[in-house]
Amino acid sequence: MTMFPLSVHNSTQSLYVPLDCEIVAVSDLTPNEKLFRLRLPEGGALGHSPGQFVQVSLLGWGEAPISVSSSPTRDGYFELGVRRAGSVTSAMHQLVVGDTIGIRGPYGRPFALDKLRGRDLLLISGGCGLAPMRSLIQYCEDRTEEFGRLTILYGAKSVEDTLFKDDLTAWEASSRFACSRTVDRITGGGSCYSGNVGLITALIPPLEIDCTITVAVIVGPPVMYRFVIEELKKKGLTSAQIVVSLERHMRCGVGKCGHCTIEHLYCCQDGPVFWLNEVEHLRGAL
Ligand SMILES: Cc1cc2nc3c(=O)[nH]c(=O)nc-3n(C[C@H](O)[C@H](O)[C@H](O)COP(=O)(O)OP(=O)(O)OC[C@H]3O[C@@H](n4cnc5c(N)ncnc54)[C@H](O)[C@@H]3O)c2cc1C
Ligand code: FES
Repeated sequence: MTMFPLSVHNSTQSLYVPLDCEIVAVSDLTPNEKLFRLRLPEGGALGHSPGQFVQVSLLGWGEAPISVSSSPTRDGYFELGVRRAGSVTSAMHQLVVGDTIGIRGPYGRPFALDKLRGRDLLLISGGCGLAPMRSLIQYCEDRTEEFGRLTILYGAKSVEDTLFKDDLTAWEASSRFACSRTVDRITGGGSCYSGNVGLITALIPPLEIDCTITVAVIVGPPVMYRFVIEELKKKGLTSAQIVVSLERHMRCGVGKCGHCTIEHLYCCQDGPVFWLNEVEHLRGAL
């Protein structure tokens, strides 16, 4: 098993000091989302594990937590898929190749790869949730022999809102994945689309799931969790076989400020990845 270093921050460096990273490529994912490929000084490894996030900073604008969208198995760079939401992300959308941004991290509890190895995985994401999920999917693609059957389900609001279209096309064509996607509705720009239309929950009942060896991983907007979990439980999965990644407003990212609490848990350190049975009983968690 390959071990990845825990963080770009070595023991003498402060947790709070960002490193300047250069944008080496930037592309449009949708009209409102961009993919940034970044390089650390000296081209070093970020040292992340799928599911972790970094704190992105822009002088004069502030900081925002953003999940790492690429797998640590892809050397020499890391990628962030960023939706234009407010001050930091809008300023980031103005940047071009050669500009730099500050990066702290990686932070947070990643997907438990040691517990996912050897399992059939159901990788279910909606909307922007494909950004962190893509890191895990790429990891599975690069270490395919470590996992059982790999099923990807993705739902977006519309064809125009679908993220990582090229990746989805490649995963659909790959013999290694069973990949299905859907859109909630067809709007003007979807005239060439011939795929599924409807909610992501509709993709679950036809699946053949071996409950003895399956783990489901869900990343998506809050509204998605309840209904997807309901469908998975109807298929026989228990809360101990379901992983969720939760988003909370964050400031420090390292368990100091209390902005991200879910009852006694700090989403930035205890999460963002949780087993469902750790959080389903907590008020407001899902
Ligand atoms: C672990 C984690 C991973 C994430 N990964 C990604 C990712 O991969 N890609 C991505 O695009 N986004 C991601 N996000 C979401 C992103 O961090 C937020 O959208 C962030 O607010 C953007 O910062 P901003 O300065 O651009 O926007 P902000 O200025 O923070 O505004 C964004 C929106 O949040 C509202 N808001 C801001 N602060 C608060 C508050 N304290 N309470 C209530 N509402 C508030 C604003 O009114 C506005 O509507 C992630 C969040 C977390 C916690
Ligand atoms: S973001 Fe500060 S404690 Fe979690």
